Parts: sequence; C-alpha cells; structure tokens
Amino acid sequence: MMLHRPRRNRSNEVIRGMIKETHLTPEHLIAPLFVIEGTNQMVPIHSMPGQFRFSIDELVKEAKELHSLGVKCVSLFPAIEDKLKTPDAKESFNPDGLNARAIRAVKEALPDMVVMADVALDPYSSDGHDGIVDKKTGEILNDQTLEVLAKQALCEAQAGADIIGPSDMMDGRVGFIREVLDSEGFQNALIMSYTAKYASAYYGPFRDALDSAPKKGDKKTYQMDFANSTEALREAELDIAEGADMLMVKPGLPYLDIIYRLKEFSTLPIAAYNVSGEYAMVKAAVNNGWLDNDKVIIETLTAFRRAGTDVILTYFAKEAAKILGR
Ligand code: PBG
Repeated sequence: MMLHRPRRNRSNEVIRGMIKETHLTPEHLIAPLFVIEGTNQMVPIHSMPGQFRFSIDELVKEAKELHSLGVKCVSLFPAIEDKLKTPDAKESFNPDGLNARAIRAVKEALPDMVVMADVALDPYSSDGHDGIVDKKTGEILNDQTLEVLAKQALCEAQAGADIIGPSDMMDGRVGFIREVLDSEGFQNALIMSYTAKYASAYYGPFRDALDSAPKKGDKKTYQMDFANSTEALREAELDIAEGADMLMVKPGLPYLDIIYRLKEFSTLPIAAYNVSGEYAMVKAAVNNGWLDNDKVIIETLTAFRRAGTDVILTYFAKEAAKILGR
C-alpha cells in the first residue's frame, strides 16, 4: 500500500481543474502599444515579430479589437519624430502632441477602455535618457526632471489617461506627480509606479521600436542593478509612502523572485512588465519551430500570476486573449 499518491489529484482534467491554484484571464492583461504619426500606418517592428507602430487611426482599431477580446487596458508608447526631440524634452507635455492625441483618440472611441500613459523623457529627449542631462557633467538631473515629469503626467491626465505610469526611476517622482495631479483636480488618476525597474538588456527591442536608446552612457545611475533584490523593497517602501496605487516590477520573467518578494511585502496590487526582449526571445524560438507559441505564452503568463502578479503588461496580450477565449 502507498498512502500518498499525488498523481491521484492529476488523474483527469476535471480533477485538475478543481484544484487549479492560479487563473489567467484577459482581465489581468495590459497591452503595450506603440504609436506613430500619420494615417493608415502599421509599421512592423523587426525585433518584435507581430508587433507594430500604429498611426492613431490604426491604434484605435487595434484597441477596439483588444477590447472585444476582453483586454480592457492599453499602455501607450509614442515614437516621437527626431525633429521634436530636444535636451529639455518639452514635447513630452505638448497637449497637441502625438501622446496626448493618441490618449484622447482611444478614450473618445472607447470610453471604458482604461488607458495607461507612460511618464519618462526618453522618447522625447535628444539624449535618449529618461531625465534631463547636465550638459557639462553628463549627470541625469533628478529634481529638474521631476518638474518636467509632473507636467507630462498632468498633460496625460488632461488628455484622459486613467493610469499614469512613471517608468523614469527618478527619486521622489511618485509623490511629486501625486501632488500635482491632486492640486489640478485629478485625484482619481491612478499611479502605477515602475517601482523596481532594472537596468536591463531585455529592453533592446523596445528601444528599436521608439528609437530611444541613450546617445551616451547607460541608465545605471537611475535604473536598478540586476544583482539586487532588497533594494527593490526600499523602492517599494518609498512608492507606497508617496501614494502609489500599484507597484510594478520590470523586466518580468527573469525577476519573478522580486515579484514574489513585493507581493509578500506590500498590500498593494503588483504589476509586472513582460518586456520586449522576453517577447523577442519567445518569438525567435517559435519562428524557428523550437517552441509551441500558444503553450509557451499561456505557461509564461500563468507563471507571472503564480509568482504573485495581479496585472501583466505584455505584448502577448492579444494572442493570449484569443487563446484563452477558445
Ligand atoms: C523607458 C522605458 C523602457 C521600457 C518602457 N519604458 C526602456 C528603457 O528604460 O530604456 C521598456 C519596455 C520593454 O522593453 O518592453 N522609459
């Protein structure tokens, strides 16, 4: 006799379904989308097979399709024309700029689509950094950057953004943005902070998509060292104290330990960003016939949920919603 046979609980699909611990639905997904000027444009991103830069009219169509599949939140990333990139990144708070127009267009077409807007200067900066660069020393200037980030966040809230997502990693930005939003009447705009954002090589394809790579140096004076995890708790403490509504970990899959620690540490919902490089790796293997696309997508996203992720930003959102709907 053998008293314990764990296999009994795996013996058929119904039993397995009864004891399934982790669920994944399209409600848990946020689709990041890239935006460009023009009309009727869907420009493929070579390092992210299946992803595009959309002109606003096409962006609205994509958002409608996502919404009908059950993905009810999109995060917009504008690819700004080179001629508009400056050292002070002032295009980042242009109320008629690409970012604000894209937010307005999606909210007008789909009022109940939740729109998340990115806060950081890199798409608008001629230096390709998330903050203002000191011309002489090359330092990324924290406090001067906060002023610009707050203007950007306000511009996005005014355009109709529901969630403000600071991805810049400047110190004190969550509190600074919260104060400006509140004083301007946007108490209801959420802040999803990129709390533990690591200086990562996995962002390569995203920087291709936006042509936003730093012109000089790297982002290691503001993004975290990937060798650290306790430091993520410190960032979380500060973001919680400054009024963040959700905490994000980025990248995702190589950082499930950080997600797990933050989930244990905080009562706030935890988000994770399954970033461009993670998407590219899967697609490269799939396109070589080495991995099963649908199975790997669902296993990957379920792993995020199992580790403690509430909300997943992922370029697989549309495909995953289709697979889950079958
Ligand atoms: C920059 C930003 C980056 C991503 C989102 N916002 C890249 C970076 O920090 O250089 C990366 C997302 C991805 O790789 O999918 N503010």
